[in-house]
Amino acid sequence: MPAYSDSVSIGAAGPVPVECVLQRRPLTRAEADEVVAQIRRSPKITGYSRSEWRGRRDTFALVRRDGGELVGALLVHHLVGGWAEIAVVFVLEEHRGRGYGRQLLAGALDMMADTRKRLLLFYSEGSPMGALARDHGFGIHADEDAFVRGMPGRRIFLKYVYKFQWLCSFYRIREMRRKRRELDCTFDFKVAFLHTEGIKK
Ligand SMILES: CC(C)(COP(=O)(O)OP(=O)(O)OC[C@H]1O[C@@H](n2cnc3c(N)ncnc32)[C@H](O)[C@@H]1OP(=O)(O)O)[C@@H](O)C(=O)NCCC(=O)NCCS
Repeated sequence: MPAYSDSVSIGAAGPVPVECVLQRRPLTRAEADEVVAQIRRSPKITGYSRSEWRGRRDTFALVRRDGGELVGALLVHHLVGGWAEIAVVFVLEEHRGRGYGRQLLAGALDMMADTRKRLLLFYSEGSPMGALARDHGFGIHADEDAFVRGMPGRRIFLKYVYKFQWLCSFYRIREMRRKRRELDCTFDFKVAFLHTEGIKK
């Protein structure tokens, strides 16, 4: 397996049956194809394009140490003003429920701990993501209005700057329309927030 300067070993302790390594790198073509195909079937995530997984965004790959098979991937969308969004935490369908999601989020947060970023993470009601985010120190807000209430800086950022940056993608607009039509998605997300200074090392 190639060595990456920015990588961390994820131990086999706890519920993870196989030792994995978390690499901060673009996904390979085959990995990106699989992740994009599975996300296209998911009603919980709007979607990021192949090229975003292949290097246009900050991406993390959780791979098995024996053989390098991808088990999960995480995508960070860096935004203006010191904000960033953990836009996707994704464990491939065949590997879910074995602790990889927890390991993926913990490892990526660890690598971002010194970046002084304000991190957003949106997730759907009923997803295991809520408990995962809370366990990693995120504050949870019922929706966008609750997140910005009484905080004009947050309101301007979220309602205008974030929306504009996020929607600057044909792929995302097309996927949202398709998923609303075909998968009955409502995209009612809860908002999780964490300042990286609060990450416990
Ligand atoms: C959310 C996701 C990343 C979790 O990854 P995972 O590897 O399946 O989760 P883990 O095995 O690490 O489990 C994390 C916690 O969630 C719980 N959990 C996992 N799957 C669950 C399920 N289907 N229902 C309820 N709880 C569940 C586990 O019990 C665990 O809690 P514990 O550590 O206190 O026991 C994965 O399910 C996924 O990729 N889902 C689709 C994409 C998505 O919705 N991403 C989130 C928004 S970006």
